[in-house]
Formats: sequence, C-alpha cells, structure tokens
Amino acid sequence: MACEITGMGMYVPPRILTNHDLEKFLDTSDEWITTRTGIKERRIADEWVKASDLGTYAAKEAIEMAGIDPKEIGAVICATSTPDMAFPSTACFIADRVGCSSKPMAFDISAACSGFIYALTIARSFIIAGQADHILVVATEVFSKIVDWSDRTTAVLFGDGAGAIVISRTNSDRGILSAVMNSDGSHWKLLHSPTCEKLRMSGRETFKLAIRNMEKACIQSLEESGLTIDDIKLVIPHQANIRIINALAEKLGIPEEKVFANIHRYGNTSAATIPIAMYEAYKEGRFQQGDNILLTAFGGGLTWGAATIRV
Ligand code: ACO
Repeated sequence: MACEITGMGMYVPPRILTNHDLEKFLDTSDEWITTRTGIKERRIADEWVKASDLGTYAAKEAIEMAGIDPKEIGAVICATSTPDMAFPSTACFIADRVGCSSKPMAFDISAACSGFIYALTIARSFIIAGQADHILVVATEVFSKIVDWSDRTTAVLFGDGAGAIVISRTNSDRGILSAVMNSDGSHWKLLHSPTCEKLRMSGRETFKLAIRNMEKACIQSLEESGLTIDDIKLVIPHQANIRIINALAEKLGIPEEKVFANIHRYGNTSAATIPIAMYEAYKEGRFQQGDNILLTAFGGGLTWGAATIRV
C-alpha cells in the first residue's frame, strides 16, 4: 500500500444554534427538523471567522497526531465551497498558519459536500506519483455565510466546521484501497450557490439522487478494493439527513449500528462532515488500526463518491 492516514483533527465553533433557537425567527419546529432531518443543533461561526480559521485549528491537531514537522508537508489541499477569498486559496492561508516553511503546493478544490473524498483521492494520487511524502487534507466550511436565513427549507440544515487529516507514504498494508469520484453537471440547479448569492436547493429531488448515487459509489468502491460490505467495520457517510443515512444502510444491507451519524450535533457541514465524523468515530473507538472503513458523500455539482480505507 502506498499511503495511509497518520493524523486526524477537527474543529467546530463554540456557538450552538438549536432547533428551538430557529423556531424564534423561522416558521419551523424542533419536531419537524428532528423527524425530517435528524438535526438537533449546529455550530455557527462568528461573523469575522473565516473557513481558514476553522481549518487551521483542525489541521494543527491532525499534524500533531501524525507526529510530523509541518515543514515535512509536501502539499496542502483544502476542500471548501466557502473559501475566504476567490484567491489566494484557503489552502495557502492554512499552509502558512500551520508553519509549512517548506513552501508546499497549496490549492483549494470545489466539489461541495463531496470535496473531502475528492481531496483525499487527489492526495493519494500525489503520494503514489512520488510528489510528496506527507499531504495535509483539510475540509472547512462556513455555510452560515451563504445560507439564506429567511428560507426555512435550507436554513435549518447547515452548520459550520472543519476536519483535517494527514496522509503519509507508507509500506504497510493499510491505506486508501480504492476511491470513486463522479459528477453530473446537468443537475446543477438542484443545489447551487451563485457567486455573491445565497444557497438554493430542491431538497426532494436531491434526496433521491443522494441515496441512489452513494449506494452505487459504495458498491463500486468495495468491488475495486476486493472487499464486501461484511469486511467493513464502519460506514461513514456524508451527514446531510438521517433519513438518507438510514436508507443507504438499508440499501447496502448493513445494520444501522455499523453506520456512523453525528448529524444531530452539527447538521450538514458540507465537505467537513466526513473528516469530522471520522475523527469522532475514531475517538469513540468505533474503529481501530487495521479495520476497513467506507466513506461516501454526495453534494452540489452534482458530485458524489466513495472511498474504502484500511486505517
Ligand atoms: N420547517 C417546517 N416545514 C418545512 C420546513 C421547515 N424547516 N422546510 C420545509 N417544510 C415544509 C415544506 O414547505 C413542505 O410543505 P408542503 O407539503 O405544505 O409543501 C413540507 O415541509 C415537506 O417538504 P419537503 O421538501 O418535501 O420535505 P422533505 O421530507 O423532502 O425534507 C429536506 C426536506 C430535509 C431538505 C430533504 O429533502 C433532504 O434532506 N434533501 C437532501 C439534501 C441533500 O442531500 N443535499 C446534498 C448535500 S448538501 C451540499 O452539497 C451543499
């Protein structure tokens, strides 16, 4: 195997916005949000906080866990749909703030909620190609800044947060066994955020496509890794809706306890949901070194993907 995850980190802003808080200014209810989405609360960054700020905290923790010097990092890849600026990239800011004095390549990728799987796959390819020994992958989002807070159909869904991992060259049999990435731009209108405008989503149509496409990507990723679903210790799906997560578990034929969900705490943090969930699942002992895990995501683009990893 060529590369493995050697460090993980996460950060969410301290301010909590509960469903009951939303009831005060939106025509909604805790009951509707809980039963339709599984979300109870989400974190909201202060007005002056940017994606790079959240990403830097998460990245520092991942680098510390990896036990490497930041100057050993050969690339910083940041998945975000809410960058600090059009340019410089959010990755450039993070690389500087974590102390990458080796001046590594640094760039952002835009693949909405699938961004982490895209970034992970790009990092894996760079390591296999001999481009770097250690790569910092960060997914960081401040969706609170692009949500229309007067639109109850989307405002209740999203939150802010960041997750990060370090991927390192290795000779062990652990690593990213397979990765699948897809897109279909013909459905862009279902979920989009034009520059300087607020996010718009057709929830019902997106819902069905999310389940179908994540299921297909999971099956393909398992096939390419030579594993079956029985070999998987834990599935970590994108956290958009608990009903999507449960439907996916049913399609894949696995019990709900083999699927990780923390959507009740954070809502949908877009690209950041998977690294945040991975981090919490690891800390809770839901998987250990040597276990196989399956990640899958779906988002605007449309984009979707899956990755099978032996951790
Ligand atoms: N509170 C109360 N009522 C509401 C709310 C709310 N917050 N939002 C919508 N409703 C109403 C609607 O107006 C509708 O009322 P009507 O029947 O009188 O017209 C009713 O509730 C049902 O609305 P639906 O949209 O059919 O509700 P649904 O069960 O589909 O749930 C949801 C909506 C949660 C958005 C769901 O469709 C979903 O999760 N979709 C997928 C989201 C997703 O996966 N996105 C991709 C990733 S995000 C990214 O890439 C950035």
